[in-house]
Formats: sequence, structure tokens, C-alpha cells
Amino acid sequence: MKKAGTFYSNAGHLNLEKVKGFKMINPPVQSGSTVLFKDYEALFQASQGKYKGIYYGTEGTPTQFFFESAMTEIEGGYRTQALPSGINAIVTVLLAYTQSGDHILVCDNIYGPTRDYCTQILPKFGVQTDFIPSDVGESITEFIKLNTRLIFLESPGSNTFEIQDIPAVTKIAQEKEIITVLDNTWATPLYLKPFELGVDVSIHSVTKYISGHSDVLMGTVTTNEKFAQPFFRYCRIAELNTSQNDCYLSLRGLRTLPVRLKHHEQAALEIARWLGNLDIIDQVLHPALPDHPQHDLWKRDFKGSTGLFGFTLKKELTKDQIAVFVNSLTLFGIGFSWGGFRSLVTVGHYSRNHNSPYRDRNIYRLYIGMDEAEDVKADLEFAFNQLKMHF
Ligand SMILES: Cc1ncc(COP(=O)(O)O)c(C=O)c1O
Repeated sequence: MKKAGTFYSNAGHLNLEKVKGFKMINPPVQSGSTVLFKDYEALFQASQGKYKGIYYGTEGTPTQFFFESAMTEIEGGYRTQALPSGINAIVTVLLAYTQSGDHILVCDNIYGPTRDYCTQILPKFGVQTDFIPSDVGESITEFIKLNTRLIFLESPGSNTFEIQDIPAVTKIAQEKEIITVLDNTWATPLYLKPFELGVDVSIHSVTKYISGHSDVLMGTVTTNEKFAQPFFRYCRIAELNTSQNDCYLSLRGLRTLPVRLKHHEQAALEIARWLGNLDIIDQVLHPALPDHPQHDLWKRDFKGSTGLFGFTLKKELTKDQIAVFVNSLTLFGIGFSWGGFRSLVTVGHYSRNHNSPYRDRNIYRLYIGMDEAEDVKADLEFAFNQLKMHF
């Protein structure tokens, strides 16, 4: 008869010969808290801070390290940390690099929850935020103070899709030893190489294109070598970690990112061009269209465009009219967090500190998933026709 304890020893009746040298294409999911040391010497080394291996689950496992190193390579950075969500990655960067008395500059078209964190939480720690124009470039100098520690960019920015002159900003920031951070979620590491443009820290909501199927919440932070130490030290001390299962799914998503992005890019561009010719449309907000105000910057810095863009209508609609349009769409889900296979729609207007042509205007935001452009156009046409019956 088995002694009670044997059940937990992990030896069982496993035929070790059968699994020797066994290898799948993808790294296995390994998760857990306790990591077993080989012997007492290893435990002793760990107690002296000299252990070279992984000694606790919060440090991550090989599943996570495979994903992080793939992200580092594709971004062209020095090192990457996976975190539980995009906003968690953003918050961690802000906490790791700032201290009481610091001032930071954040682009006006930043993702809403990033804005909220900067205006509502950072002041508690004595960090003050000013917003810079959504299309900022050399004019950044007007906003820099003696205590400016960090500049946070997002290009194209959320919902209104303005582009910043990233190299102009990073050049000035480097001269003044200010850290530059970019939320690179829209372009992905395939279509914008932040480190080539002088950025120090690049953030992704992996939740979007990289995991790619709307079933994962994750973020990454990749740094250059110069600014790696303060960030990774913070993560180590705070014992930040993420789900190994999600790392597995995100690594799997990364493998097919190039083909998925090509579809999103082509379908979204075709639909954006088609929308631009409709009478009902005022402006299509897509940086790859030649009439976008910063199209030249996009052409210079980006290697492609993706599936998310916006438009405004000539006539501002009432809430009931918006409901008719949105509810008439059959291919689009109504929801946030793009980057998956499903096309999505949202409508809203967004706070800006600087003058913006979009202030108080409804921005209709479309995400083109894996649907065919022809089908999406037919769906939009149907919804516009329904709307016109309510003018
Ligand atoms: C540009 C951008 N950055 C960050 C985030 C936050 O990502 P997550 O949903 O993974 O927290 C989002 C989410 O919509 C986003 O659009």
C-alpha cells in the first residue's frame, strides 16, 4: 500500500524513459509558486543573493521568459517585463521612473485611463503632470521644466489618431536626460520600431494585437539598456508577475501577428478610403490617408498601419440617432479592446487640454477585425441608410 505522502512526491509511475528528450514546438506552460532548489548549497547561495537561477514563482518561469525575449527581439530593445495588463504596464513605468517633486509631460491624446492615473493618482506621490499637444514635436521645449523627468507619448494617440514627431521629441529629451516612454500598442513592434527613433521605454497592451484573440489581458514594458536598471529593480522588489498561461497565449499570438496585421491593415485602409468618399462623412481619422494632418510623419516613421481608425460625421447626431446607427451594424461588436478577430465600434467624445478640432465632437471609432472589407462596407452602408431615415 502507498504511504500517504508518496502521492505528493511527483514520482508516481511516470515512465521517465518515454519522456526523455521529449520536445514540442511551443514551450510548455509552467506555473507555480515554489521552485525546488537542487541542494542545500543552492538554497544557501539564494540566501546570500548569489543564486543564478529562478528561485520563486514571482520571478516568472521559462514560459514567460520565452515570451519576454521574443518581445525584446521584435521591439529591438534591451529587456522586457510582462505585466498583468496594458494599464498595469503603464502604471508600473510611471511609478518606477518618477519620485516626489518630479514633473512629467504626457501627450494630450493619451489613452483615457493613463490620463486619469496621471491626474488623479500621481499627485498623491508629489508627481505633477502637464499635457502636451497631440502632434507635439520640437515645440516640446516650451513645456520642459527643470524638474521634468519623463515624457510619455502615444502615437497615433487614442481615438483622434494624431501623430507625434517622435525623433524630434527624443532628440531634445536625450539632450536634457529626460526619459521618453511610448505606448506603441496601435502600431505593434512590427510597424513602429521605437528604439530606432530614440525612445527609451516602449509599452504594449498585449491584450490587443499581440495576443490577438480578445481572450488575454496583458502588458509589456521593454526598455533600452540605459534605463533598464531602475525599472527592473522596481519590478523585482515589487515582485510583479503575470499569468504563465497568458504568456503562452501571447507568444502563440505573436507568431501569427504579421499575417493578421496585413489583413487588418489592408481591410481598414480600403474601408477608410471608401468612407472618405461618402457624403455623410466629415473626416476620416487614419494616419495612412494622405489628408491626415501628420501623414508625412506617419510615412517617415511607421512601416505600416493597423485596423483601428475613426471618423466624424458632417452632422452631429443625437443620442437616439447614434443608437440607430450603432445598433444597425451587424458585423461589429459594440465594445472596447480591439486587436482580436471581431470588428468593433465605439462612439464618444474625449477630453483634451489643448485646442483640438475634435473637442465636443463625436468620434466614431471602428476596429476592423478579420472580416472582409466588402462585407464591412455593406454593413456600414446599411447602417448609414437606416440612420438617414431618422434625419
Ligand atoms: C493605447 C492603449 N494603451 C493601453 C491600453 C490598456 O490596455 P489593457 O486593456 O491591456 O489594460 C489600451 C486599452 O484599450 C489602449 O488602447
